[in-house]
Amino acid sequence: MTDTITIDRPADRVALITLTRPKALNALNLQVMREITAATAELDRDPDIGAIVITGSERAFAAGADIKEMAPQTFSDVYAADWFAGWDALSRVRTPLIAAVAGYALGGGCELAMMCDLLIAADTAKFGQPEITLGVIPGMGGSQRLTRAIGKAKAMDLCLTGRTIDAHEAERAGLVSRVVPAAALLEEATGVATKIASMSRPAARMVKEAVNRAFESSLTEGLLFERRLFHSTFATHDQKEGMAAFTEKRPPTFRHA
Ligand code: CAA
Repeated sequence: MTDTITIDRPADRVALITLTRPKALNALNLQVMREITAATAELDRDPDIGAIVITGSERAFAAGADIKEMAPQTFSDVYAADWFAGWDALSRVRTPLIAAVAGYALGGGCELAMMCDLLIAADTAKFGQPEITLGVIPGMGGSQRLTRAIGKAKAMDLCLTGRTIDAHEAERAGLVSRVVPAAALLEEATGVATKIASMSRPAARMVKEAVNRAFESSLTEGLLFERRLFHSTFATHDQKEGMAAFTEKRPPTFRHA
């Protein structure tokens, strides 16, 4: 049962997860975390899904972790529960994830968007890590993924002052890959997802693995990892088909295998 999200199939090989807690501006409580991680894990096992879009509402992608749920917790509570560790499951999803962000993406909302592989923003999007204004710090990766995405200067600025940046500043900083008019957000995100899902499934997953490895390894290790994955694509049907199609001047028919 999913109460805080809906799951749709807006296009061939594409899944769309929509956060549906509008009254709380899609604040991320434990239930949302369980439902998103369960849904993405299941979609990840589905061979007919090649890309997953995660979105919120026009007003808010997500306004952060649920402050009302966290407020009464003690150190012992959050330490014992390893609060937020459950979100790591999203990092284990191998299917490309696209965040389609309109409105607020604050705190955990910005961090959820950054757990995705590609961020597409509506011109109404606002990003920030305002945890410091609550007397805490980012806890779902903000200090780490934001720094890797936009560099120390801006990450420090956002995390220390709690200020928000708009979609255009986020694009200039390298946090988002495209900004589109709000009315076109889902169409654009679904279009990008459809494009990715039409590619060879193993190749798309390997691209994701290889790019993510850049954040975890030295350049030499990363280059070797990439090269070995590249070699392994030659074991797939889709490499044979993709290269044959190019030579024969026709579109490829990938089997996603
Ligand atoms: N948690 C719980 N409830 C939230 C929430 C959150 N993060 N953000 C908004 N809401 C709730 C509000 O309490 C309000 O509920 P009620 O109607 O019951 O009072 C409802 O959503 C609508 O919010 P507002 O009335 O505040 O709407 P607004 O338009 O005036 O302001 C806002 C919008 C600027 C986003 C404001 O809601 C806000 O500042 N929210 C909190 C943002 C924040 O601090 N996020 C970080 C959370 S901590 C975190 O995420 C830790 C981490 O690293 C993971």
